[in-house]
Formats: sequence, C-alpha cells, structure tokens
Amino acid sequence: MAEEICFFTKDSLIIKPPKKSPALLRMIVVVFAMVCGVYICSTCLKQTNTETTSKLWNIEVIERLCHEYDTDRSQIPYLHYPKPKTFNRGECGCNPVRLFAVLSTQRSGSGWFETLLNSHINISSNGEIFSVKERRENSSSILRTLDSVYNLDLFTSASKNHCSAAVGFKWMLNQGLIQHHKEIVEYFNNKGVSVIFLFRRNLLRRMVSVIANSYDRYAKLLNGTHKSHVHSPEEASTLAKYKPEINTTLLITDLKKMEVAATEALEYFNSTRHLTLYYEDLIRNQTKLGDVLDFLKLPQMNLSSRQVKIHSGPLREHIRNWDDVNKTLSGTTYESFLRSDC
Ligand SMILES: *[C@@H]1O[C@H](CO)[C@@H](O)[C@H](O)[C@H]1NC(C)=O
Ligand SMILES: *[C@@H]1O[C@H](CO)[C@@H](O)[C@H](O)[C@H]1NC(C)=O
Ligand SMILES: *[C@@H]1O[C@H](CO)[C@@H](O)[C@H](O)[C@H]1NC(C)=O
Ligand SMILES: *[C@@H]1O[C@H](CO)[C@@H](O)[C@H](O)[C@H]1NC(C)=O
Ligand SMILES: *[C@@H]1O[C@H](CO)[C@@H](O)[C@H](O)[C@H]1NC(C)=O
Ligand SMILES: *[C@@H]1O[C@H](CO)[C@@H](O)[C@H](O)[C@H]1NC(C)=O
Ligand SMILES: *[C@@H]1O[C@H](CO)[C@@H](O)[C@H](O)[C@H]1NC(C)=O
Ligand SMILES: *[C@@H]1O[C@H](CO)[C@@H](O)[C@H](O)[C@H]1NC(C)=O
Repeated sequence: MAEEICFFTKDSLIIKPPKKSPALLRMIVVVFAMVCGVYICSTCLKQTNTETTSKLWNIEVIERLCHEYDTDRSQIPYLHYPKPKTFNRGECGCNPVRLFAVLSTQRSGSGWFETLLNSHINISSNGEIFSVKERRENSSSILRTLDSVYNLDLFTSASKNHCSAAVGFKWMLNQGLIQHHKEIVEYFNNKGVSVIFLFRRNLLRRMVSVIANSYDRYAKLLNGTHKSHVHSPEEASTLAKYKPEINTTLLITDLKKMEVAATEALEYFNSTRHLTLYYEDLIRNQTKLGDVLDFLKLPQMNLSSRQVKIHSGPLREHIRNWDDVNKTLSGTTYESFLRSDC
C-alpha cells in the first residue's frame, strides 16, 4: 500500500503538475498518517491491557490456591501471604503468616518472653523495633514501620523470614503506642494483627528492676558493660548486689500510675484480637506458653530461654530502705507486693 502511494505520488508529481494536485497529495498523506497512528495506538493499548489483567489474574490465582490449604475459613482475615521486596519466600510462599505484637512495659519479662518465642522454629519476634526514635516520630512513620516488619522486609537478628509462620515484635507502652493508639488499633484490626499483652503483677518488683537497670546503665557492674539481661547466676548475683533505695514519698503515686497505664492500654486495645499474660503466671506455669502457641495457631513445641532472673528471692533482700517501704505499703492495696516471691 505504501508503495502504491509512493508511485501514485511520484506519478502525480511528475505526470500531473496541475494546481489541484498538492492539496490532494497532502490529504492522502494526512489520512495515511492518521490511519497508521490509530492502528499503532490501539495495538499498544490492547497489549498493556492484557498484560495487566493477566498479572492481576495471576495474583488472584496464587492467593486462591494458597487459601485452598486453609481448612478453617474463619481464620482467613488473620492469614497473610507476604511478598517481600527484599527476597523470595520460595517454597514457603504459600505458608500463611500470622501477625502479632507483644505490648508490654519495661522490666516486665518481655525480653525473656521474646527469647522463648524465638526458640520456636516458625516465630520471628523482632525485638523492640520502636526504640528507634525516627520510627515513632508520627503516626505515618509508625504505620510505615509496621508495614515493613509485617511484610518481612525489616531485618533484625531474629528474622527467620522464609518459613516464618508468625511475625511480630515487642512494643513498650511509652514508645508511641498509647499516644497514637487510634491509628494503631485501626491498623491492627484491618490487618488482623493479634495482640499479646504482657504485664507484671508485682509492680514493686518491677520498680526495683527499673531502678537497678538504670543504675547499671551508668555504673556498668559487669566488667564495664551495661547488661539488661544475663545468662548466668553469677552475672545475676553481681547485678543484684546493687540494692536500690526507693523514695517512699511518691511510692504509692508511682505504683498507681503504673497500674493505670496498663488498664488504659487494655481499654484502648480491647477491640483487637488479644491475649493477656502476666509474667508471674508464665514463671510458675510453663503450660501457659502452650496457650500462646494456640493463640497464634502454631504447632506446639517446647520453648526455652538461656536468660536468668536477676532479682530472685525475697524482695526485702533487694531494697536498701526495706523498713520504710514495708511501713508505707502495709495496709494498702499494694501490701501483697511485699510478700510475693517473683
Ligand atoms: C513523620 O516523620 C518522618 C520521619 O521523621 C518525617 O520524615 C515526616 O515528614 C513526618 N511526617 C509528618 C506528616 O509529620
Ligand atoms: C515451620 O518451619 C519449618 C522449617 O523451616 C517448615 O518446614 C514448616 O513448614 C513451618 N511450619 C509452618 C506451620 O509454617
Ligand atoms: C567478666 O570478667 C570475668 C572475670 O574476668 C569473666 O569470668 C566474665 O565472663 C566476664 N563477664 C562478661 C560479661 O564479660
Ligand atoms: C523524695 O521525693 C520527694 C518529691 O520528689 C523529694 O522532695 C524528696 O527530697 C525525695 N526524698 C529523698 C530522700 O530523695
Ligand atoms: C473489653 O470489652 C468487653 C466487651 O465489649 C468488656 O466486657 C470488657 O470489660 C472490656 N475490657 C476492658 C479492659 O475494657
Ligand atoms: C497452668 O496453666 C494451664 C493453662 O493456662 C491451666 O489449665 C492450669 O490449670 C494451670 N496450672 C496451675 C497449677 O495453675
Ligand atoms: C516437651 O517436653 C516434655 C518433657 O521434656 C515432653 O514430655 C513433651 O512431649 C515435649 N513436648 C513437645 C511438643 O515436644
Ligand atoms: C513489715 O513490717 C511488719 C511490722 O513491722 C512486720 O511484722 C512484717 O514482717 C514486715 N514484712 C516483711 C515482709 O518484712
């Protein structure tokens, strides 16, 4: 066709030189260009269309095939099939992943609890990721961090990634959690994140641990290094040699504040799927750990940790001004804290 036109135009140029001819020629070229343009455009569009639809269709098929393995339909909102940007899940691409967060307070056994969780072959608990200040600057940086940890794109020493069946981290109440609770609860409920509360009943013991830990941050009792957790009874007794003195003026007020913070968190996060644990119950009764694995719908396994408790034995041995503290708390609702042994 192009040749014909060429000949034709040549012919018309050479053979017929009258005035009308240039206009006709221009018309033919314009029409030809238009037809070509429309044809090229339509082919391109068609190609991109089929490409995107087939891509969408593929994703749907993969998700549906993965879901075929799920026997319990009610669990679907809690199951995720992450597609990390940083690596390929390979043969475990169809293993569902559950999302969780351990909400706790400092010195409540959450470090120990996390080492227990990470001893399970299918759990990655990524530590205190919001101790990094930039990650909790505002709600958008919080949500971005949550997206990356739950998409398995955040690397920590606890990352197992390829075959993880549950991924999470621990989050202290004072790390933006209460401040941005609205956005976080909404995110948790949209994504089906399961919440594990871990609190300590004996707030007086917690207080001793907080004071001693912050003292060690400066004093560095173990060979000049600061240790929050220890792995041998010798190290534990070295750290426990320091006996804090507790200012009794504000003792009751401070205990009350700790109590209120925990109740507040339970209220704010009440609409999420959650489980509430107490450190003391976990210490006394290891079968409670089985409840945690059931809650996360993971295969039962014996969990273990190398961590050793720092302040063991009666509390009176760990507080310098014990008589004052005893007098202050006797007869109050906190009296039982004086006696309990863990
Ligand atoms: C949130 O914090 C991040 C990180 O510090 C910052 O880059 C971003 O501009 C902040 N966004 C808003 C909306 O303040
Ligand atoms: C747990 O991990 C093992 C080994 O990586 C893997 O074979 C298994 O499929 C995982 N289990 C679940 C429930 O994902
Ligand atoms: C501290 O030093 C002692 C004696 O030199 C040693 O046995 C111990 O392992 C050291 N502890 C740490 C945490 O380095
Ligand atoms: C205890 O705290 C109160 C109030 O902050 C303060 O006035 C007082 O000096 C403190 N007592 C001691 C012994 O540090
Ligand atoms: C959470 O909600 C349930 C039912 O709505 C209610 O019975 C329970 O008291 C609430 N718990 C807290 C801690 O607010
Ligand atoms: C230990 O915990 C399990 C599960 O929560 C419970 O059924 C059992 O009664 C507890 N045992 C004791 C001695 O408290
Ligand atoms: C855990 O250990 C106990 C005792 O060592 C054993 O009886 C039990 O079968 C173990 N459970 C699992 C799930 O391995
Ligand atoms: C606290 O003080 C009372 C009265 O002084 C005493 O009887 C009790 O044994 C003390 N409690 C502890 C745990 O030391």
